Amino acid sequence: QTADIGIVGLGVMGENLALNLESHGFAVAGFDLEATRRDSFSQRTAGKRAFTARSLAELVGCLKLPRRLLVMVPAGAAVDAVLADLRPLLYAGDVVMDGGNTRFGDTQRRILDLQGTGILYVGTGVSGGEEGALHGPALMPGGDPQAWPLVQPVLQAIAARAEDGAPCCEWMGPGGAGHFVKTVHNGIEYADMQTICEAFWLMQELLGMTPGEMSPVFAQWNEGPLSSYLVGITADILAHTDRESGKPLVDLILDTAEQKGTGKWASQIALELGITAPTIADAVFARTVSAVKDERVAAADILRGPGKLAAVEREAFVAKIHNALLAAKICAYAQGFQLLAGADREYQWHLPFATIAAVWRAGCIIRARLLEDIRRAYAHAPDLQNLLVDAHFAGVMAQCQQDLREVVATAALHGVAVPAFMSALAYYDAYRAPRLPANLLQAQRDYFGAHTYQRVDRPGKFHTRWTE
Ligand code: 6PG
Repeated sequence: QTADIGIVGLGVMGENLALNLESHGFAVAGFDLEATRRDSFSQRTAGKRAFTARSLAELVGCLKLPRRLLVMVPAGAAVDAVLADLRPLLYAGDVVMDGGNTRFGDTQRRILDLQGTGILYVGTGVSGGEEGALHGPALMPGGDPQAWPLVQPVLQAIAARAEDGAPCCEWMGPGGAGHFVKTVHNGIEYADMQTICEAFWLMQELLGMTPGEMSPVFAQWNEGPLSSYLVGITADILAHTDRESGKPLVDLILDTAEQKGTGKWASQIALELGITAPTIADAVFARTVSAVKDERVAAADILRGPGKLAAVEREAFVAKIHNALLAAKICAYAQGFQLLAGADREYQWHLPFATIAAVWRAGCIIRARLLEDIRRAYAHAPDLQNLLVDAHFAGVMAQCQQDLREVVATAALHGVAVPAFMSALAYYDAYRAPRLPANLLQAQRDYFGAHTYQRVDRPGKFHTRWTE
């Protein structure tokens, strides 16, 4: 029994995490049901402290006690199948970690299923794609708290490090907390990506800028408050030319977005918990409307837009888009943290908000300079009602909100769809409104359904016979 950790599932993420673990001094053993993956793993790990097992039993047999296993198979039925096969092979005290993009409810269910076996179960968010897995991902583990001391040294060793040297891996909480945090990460990721796409779209549609002209703008934004992995890769993407045609590659990519479902889950949970997260949901809908390309092409001949308007002045408007993007990004993060807080109230996880922001500072897809400010906000006020009312962020919003308005208004006048920008602005304006038209809404409900309403001038529930 010589291996420190076993990896089940040697796809690109499993294989890269194994190599990362090995490079940090851990002896790894890997297994995959597919022989071709096992062969590729053997080749990539030749000469390293790594062993390729030919069966799950062989994998389990070569692990030090208590055993530590990381399952990296597609979320869903495959995880249940691996667990069913592992269960008879494991002892009480062994730890099984699922590093896939799993629904947090599935993780909770699996923890319940394992109750009484003594097997410790962890659901961990893993972010950062292939590169992150190999060189340092952000990790969001949660589940059986007894497992944490057993896996902490391993996970923190391979995680990315923030600028202050802290590993981007901390315990998120019991049950499905780790996978829930990853789901919110992905919801924010969707909103971040969509708002960047809208900034790009405005530069193209309103300002007539080419990808080559936009790339340096994003590169420059990446030096300031918008500095983030996603803005950085956008600059790279826009600079990329297609070898064959010499055209910007982005212009040759079909404009229909795909998705694996994590942004949808984040939005579904928001609806279930009654949390307002419209920018995250609109980022999902932006993908779904992009996907009906044929319908859009047909509708373009039927549906009228605005007439031709005067050209927009480029330099001044690019600066406004910068501020609009920053404001929309803050609104999306605020919604993501509201979602964390809502789930925390529901499930009593005691989520560490400041720590979550700290873990997201490096390694993950949404890593951004802004996250250090978010960490600071929650460290200063763990019960913060909303990121928007933190003094720092309220100040940034005060500086940027007018530009967000002008960008949204200009886009609307020109008929350019920017749903995430628009919903971010609506979220901001609704959240800062002491009164909303829900008084009329309550009256309507009472009118047709006798649902009753409350009054501003005296306590109690009231019903009116509106037609009398
Ligand atoms: C990450 C990513 C990763 C993956 C998403 C993509 O944090 O590393 O979020 O998990 O790229 O699943 O999701 P979509 O296919 O839904 O865009």
